[in-house]
Amino acid sequence: MFNLNLYQEKLTTGFIGQSIKYFPKLDSTNTKAWELISENAKNGMVVITDNQLKGRGRQSNKWISTPGKSLTFSIILYPNVLPNQINLYSLIAGLAITDCLIEYNIHAKLKWPNDILINSKKVGGILCESKISGGVIKSMVIGIGLNVNENIAELPEELRDNATSLMIESGTQYQLEVVLANILNHLEHRIKNDETNSQLLDWEKHCAHLNQEVTFRNGNDIVEGVFNGLSSIGQAIITINGNKIKYDGGEVIL
Ligand code: BTN
Repeated sequence: MFNLNLYQEKLTTGFIGQSIKYFPKLDSTNTKAWELISENAKNGMVVITDNQLKGRGRQSNKWISTPGKSLTFSIILYPNVLPNQINLYSLIAGLAITDCLIEYNIHAKLKWPNDILINSKKVGGILCESKISGGVIKSMVIGIGLNVNENIAELPEELRDNATSLMIESGTQYQLEVVLANILNHLEHRIKNDETNSQLLDWEKHCAHLNQEVTFRNGNDIVEGVFNGLSSIGQAIITINGNKIKYDGGEVIL
């Protein structure tokens, strides 16, 4: 059950999360968010569930979470920005999570484009979807999954070597409503601060693989190169055989 009072007590935003829809059970908060957009949902509305049954990940992967133990939520935005800004939004969402975790003395890292890692294991992921109309991003859904209170046995067996939760890493249990409000506070702060360059530098500071040899997968293409950081619109810059190549999509594999 979602404790609305606790959440509202911690929330300091002007618009993100001021309107929130809680569902005890849902297939996917991102899918529900798109449904709500078609019914004119407010800018900044948050959709959250305790039990996500068909969580969607990037590149058609599934996102599996233990009911009541993790955060699975989506944020609805109507940003009216150029389509090439989409990567920046998902990078900023990753930073909002690292900002929040620093408050708990947890130093998380980011893997391009938007995996959240603690001690090299994945603790969270972001699925950012958008609809373009008239040459601008009219609507956007930022879906966030963060493993919070799971113990090792509660993580899917096949993921145990590569996944973790805040509880596993810190030995502490967290109130989900408080962590959620904290993430949203940081997200709004970062979205309102339009100094793109400082956001990009912050992301690079938190990057798990800056200037390191990485494997990069883009569709069926797998290449080896050095991750040299971000372009001005958040693309991954990879140096392959001496050539710097900018990627909009794909992912770093560590
Ligand atoms: C990834 O790492 O592949 C992204 C995972 C994103 C999962 C979240 S959970 C809340 C929201 N609803 C979904 O169906 N997916 C995102």
